[in-house]
Amino acid sequence: MIRTAREEDVDNIVELEAECMPHPWVTDDIRSLVTDDKKYAIVAEEDGLIAGYVGASFVLDEAEIGNICVSSSYRRRGFASALLTELEKELKSSGVTVIFLEVESTNTGAIALYEREGFVMYNERKDYYGQGKDALLYRKEIS
Ligand SMILES: CC(C)(COP(=O)(O)OP(=O)(O)OC[C@H]1O[C@@H](n2cnc3c(N)ncnc32)[C@H](O)[C@@H]1OP(=O)(O)O)[C@@H](O)C(=O)NCCC(=O)NCCS
Repeated sequence: MIRTAREEDVDNIVELEAECMPHPWVTDDIRSLVTDDKKYAIVAEEDGLIAGYVGASFVLDEAEIGNICVSSSYRRRGFASALLTELEKELKSSGVTVIFLEVESTNTGAIALYEREGFVMYNERKDYYGQGKDALLYRKEIS
């Protein structure tokens, strides 16, 4: 089930971050996604567990995806695509017309996901994450 995150999901999302991300967000960052009315967190709940989530924030008509992750045993089952679709729907209803995100150039799985979901690369920052690890900047118009 894809749904908006609730406060009781925060600890599970923090665990998911720790599993998936090299620099995981901490509890306060995650809680703000749930409590701040300019932020969104959408979760994929499966077997009573939080299998994945996406978090984003917006200002006026521009949003930025801060993080997306799916637990390793639930990957390649369409959860990330479904999370992005739901996020896009929610952002649109808040008046957002363009979504931005940043991804490391070696993260081929995430890049494949974003490109399949219609994100287009518009810039890159060489060696942003260290030697040979560029930051790729993507955007998607949703108006
Ligand atoms: C990137 C990530 C969120 C994808 O989650 P997912 O639920 O497995 O993605 P989906 O099943 O929705 O994939 C949808 C499509 O994206 C592409 N894709 C996703 N992961 C891919 C991978 N590892 N390799 C190649 N293509 C991939 C495929 O086209 C896939 O469709 P297909 O399975 O029919 O071929 C997940 O691998 C993850 O959590 N990675 C670690 C965290 C991370 O790197 N987040 C991004 C930070 S910028």
